[in-house]
Order: sequence, then C-alpha cells, then structure tokens
Amino acid sequence: MIRGPTPMSSLDPLKARTEFPILEQKVYLNSCSLGALSRRSEAYLAEFLQRWHTMGASAWYEHWLGRLALLRQRVEAFLGAEPGTVALLPSTSSALAAVAESLPADRRRGRNRVVCSELDFPTLAYQWALKPDIELVILPSEDGVGMDPEQFAEAVDERTLLLATSHVFFATGFIQDPARLAAIAHGVGAYCLLDGYHGAGQVPLALAETGVDFYTTGPLKWLCGGPGLAYLYIHPSIIPTLQPTIAGWFGAKNAFRFEIRRFEPHDDARRLEMGTPAMATVHTALGGQEILEEVGVEAVAARNRHLTERLVTLARDAGFGLTTAKDPSCRSAIVMIRHPDPPGAVAHLAQEGIIVDHRPGHVRVSPHFYNTDEEVERLVEVLVSFRG
Ligand SMILES: Cc1ncc(COP(=O)(O)O)c(C=O)c1O
Repeated sequence: MIRGPTPMSSLDPLKARTEFPILEQKVYLNSCSLGALSRRSEAYLAEFLQRWHTMGASAWYEHWLGRLALLRQRVEAFLGAEPGTVALLPSTSSALAAVAESLPADRRRGRNRVVCSELDFPTLAYQWALKPDIELVILPSEDGVGMDPEQFAEAVDERTLLLATSHVFFATGFIQDPARLAAIAHGVGAYCLLDGYHGAGQVPLALAETGVDFYTTGPLKWLCGGPGLAYLYIHPSIIPTLQPTIAGWFGAKNAFRFEIRRFEPHDDARRLEMGTPAMATVHTALGGQEILEEVGVEAVAARNRHLTERLVTLARDAGFGLTTAKDPSCRSAIVMIRHPDPPGAVAHLAQEGIIVDHRPGHVRVSPHFYNTDEEVERLVEVLVSFRG
C-alpha cells in the first residue's frame, strides 16, 4: 500500500533504523557510496513488479507516469525548488552533458572558459576537457580539503561561461556555500552549476534562494533510493532560454503525439530529459525520499553533524590523522581517516561486519542519520586493532 505525501519530521532518526534491514546485520558506514535500502523502497519496488505482472504496458498510463510526476514533485519540494524545475536523467554525467549541450549561443559568445576545482568529481570536468572550443581551468586546493571561495572569485571573469564545482566535495566532505558561489559566477555574467550528489539528503537546501543556475543530485547516496537516476535542477529563469542540441522524446512537450518533424520542448525543466527512465529506480527512490522527508533534512543534518564530530574526535584520540576541514561547520559525514594500508583495513573491518571503503591513503567512513554512536565507536575500536 503506497502512502501519499507525508508531513515533515514525523519520524525519529533512530526509530527509522528499523526501515533498513542491512543495519540489523552490519555496521553500515558507507552511505556516501550507496545509501542503505529501506523496506519502504522494497515495498514500492514490489508494487512496481506486481503491476508489471498484472497490467503489463497499461501500468504506464494508469500508474507509472504518475509515479514519475510524483517523484519530480517530491524532489522539487525537498530541494526547496519551484515546481517544474527538476528533470530526471539516468546519471549525473548525462545530466551534466544535457546542460552543456543546451547553453544558448548568445550566452556562450565570447565565453569559452569553464572553471572547476581539483577536488571535484572528475565527471564534472571530463566533457569540457573534450570540447576543443572550451578552455577548462582546474583550480588547485591549497590544503587538499576544500576551496577558498576567493579562489573562484579571482579565477572567473568575462571569459567564463560556467563556474562548475561541488556543493560538498566527494573526497573530503567539505561543504561549499551555494549562494556565495552563485554570486561569484553571476558577478561576471557566468552560470553557476553545482554537483550536489553529496549535498542533497545531508545538507538542508533551499535551492530557489541560492541563485544557482544548475544543481545535480540523485537518489543513489544520501537519499537512499538506489542507482539509475539523477535529478537536475534548473533555475526557472533559465529554462526557457535553454536550446537543447541533444534531445529525446521525454523532453518533448507532446511526446505521445509522436510528431517526428518537429521537436517542441517541454516548457519546464523536463525539456532536458531524454528517453524512458529507470522505472524500478523511480520506485525505490520514492521509498528513500519518503523516509528522508519524514525524518526531515534538518534532523538528518543534526544527526550527521553529531556522528561526524564523534568520529573525528574518537579517530584523533586514537592517534589517526584526518583529512578534514578545520572548521567543523564545513564538515559533512564523509570522514577520511589516514591509514598506511587502507585496502587491508577495509578488509579487516569487513571481517568484523563493518562496511566502509577506501580511497588512496585513507579509510573513508560515511555515517548517515540511521547510524548510532555505538557503531561509530565500534569502527574506531576495530580500526585501532589494525594499524597496518
Ligand atoms: C560527487 C559525485 N558526482 C558525480 C558522481 C558520478 O555520478 P554518475 O555516475 O551518476 O554520473 C559521483 C559518483 O560517485 C559523485 O560522487
């Protein structure tokens, strides 16, 4: 039985643990890679499969197109975005490509620079690196953890088309200020695009107030909705100006008229959508989305701050070095613990039922609202017994 929209903050973060079966078996501290699967997502998925069994293709018209609309609507509300500003795409990479292929010619004129930072996820930069007419500027990070917004301010000018960086850096958890970055980009007439894969779902957001032009995120990680979809927010003032040069029928205003001679785009953000979306993921995403809404992103953020600080303190007290922001207000729940043998440590932790990951030189630990203090304590205790 599927519920309708739920009131905010009606579920205690720790009571929500019972929604996530993996937490009964493992100490799961890898949500920045893959958010835990909930019983709610499973129920949505079971409903999807059941309708597929019993209705076949008629499920599209009677249910699934409605599920797509519901997901868009819930994501828009969750991101603090206006209705009609979110498009669904298969991945962040494809969402970024759709943006790159839609920027209008008059805004591109005389502007051939894209500015990002070395801490961004590579997919943000790759496509620009391949475009011969674009000069990609990758700014260095002074401390290897975060960026000073002044670096962006100094790097952008009237030649800049796009300031593209992360809301939260994937490798360090460092949080950047979307409004500040948008103001910097707009000060020189450039667009601001943020990769928010590690923002939405752990950092409260009111996208409509930040001024950012584009924001990408998705259900995979902090929204506990699984792989196969990405969300692309587009500022409403920009939507009508976008001129897609790659397109698909889900982006067409009257897709079911099958008008082959003319592509008339949707009036809203859907104009950047492509083909048939991953419907199984639409369902699992609705389950995760619902739980996040019920817990409330403020409660999630408070819980994640608490767990992050606990982890940082315990790891430091145990003598580990950390690659993390000096200012705790810039930290999120991606904690990089320096270690001489990260793969060995991750394997050792796995033997003890603790799931984390490794990145060069680090054991990466990412708690989420459903984790407990005891789980974080256990992780450090076991890590202390394996120093490599
Ligand atoms: C910050 C960030 N951006 C983008 C991606 C890749 O996104 P996609 O595989 O959806 O293109 C990842 C993947 O982990 C990520 O962490």
